[in-house]
Amino acid sequence: MKLDPTQLAQFDELGYVFLPNCFSAAEIDAMRNASREIFEQTRPEIWRERDGTPRTAFACHLYHEACNLMATDVRLVEPVEQLFDEPCYLHQFKINAKAAFTGEVWQSHQDFPTWHKDDGMPEARAMNIAVFLDDVLPVNGPLMFIPRSHKSGALEASHDTQTTSYPLWTLDQKTVSELVAKNGIVAPTGEAGGMLMFHANLVHGSSGNITPYPRRIVYLTLSALSNAIVRPTRPEFIAHRDFTPVQATRTNRLAAYAEGRLMAA
Ligand code: SIN
Ligand code: MN
Repeated sequence: MKLDPTQLAQFDELGYVFLPNCFSAAEIDAMRNASREIFEQTRPEIWRERDGTPRTAFACHLYHEACNLMATDVRLVEPVEQLFDEPCYLHQFKINAKAAFTGEVWQSHQDFPTWHKDDGMPEARAMNIAVFLDDVLPVNGPLMFIPRSHKSGALEASHDTQTTSYPLWTLDQKTVSELVAKNGIVAPTGEAGGMLMFHANLVHGSSGNITPYPRRIVYLTLSALSNAIVRPTRPEFIAHRDFTPVQATRTNRLAAYAEGRLMAA
């Protein structure tokens, strides 16, 4: 699945593109079941909010078959390879739960500074591509983007270990205010099954979820092969050390899995 010229132009200008209806209801149902099974587990890859609610399941492509299939799905891999014009490896795979009532904030940040400072990623030739497992609404903690902020490059950030259970390199209020005054702020919402890709230097965050509607999102962080990390400090399940190029699966194995037709390999 390739981006068309309009989508490429939007990505270049605004720093993100939303692609609705990429995954079927059956595939999303299978991934929701997977996320339930995953978040019931207790293991180091699963981070919790300060009240114990699941926040993030890292590297669950290594311990759930449905996620494993999604991690090589051509619909996710191909547009990123198209943008970088080279094969990619998987730097990170995660599901963010943003649970009903208790899912907490993600402070305003850019992704690349964290990958650079914590993992030794050389350049902003990596990006997140996200799949909505629930309808993302204006009210259940959608991602918020500052359009065009990717054009500012990597901004100065400070290491916040206090606001949530998860440490993050975050931007200060003055920087965010100036960028929003210039570019505004948007929350791309959409139905489950939609896909959202955004530039590694796009400023983003999300507020807490106080609604009864969960907002589960799967994220693949794909990096250009030439951009392998050189100084990882975080655990391997957060910053992968396997730089094998992702082989995009062209047959729809997730759909087959969802329909219970996938034969044991
Ligand atoms: C992230 O920026 O890595 C996650 C934000 C979110 O899921 O709201
Ligand atoms: Mn981020």
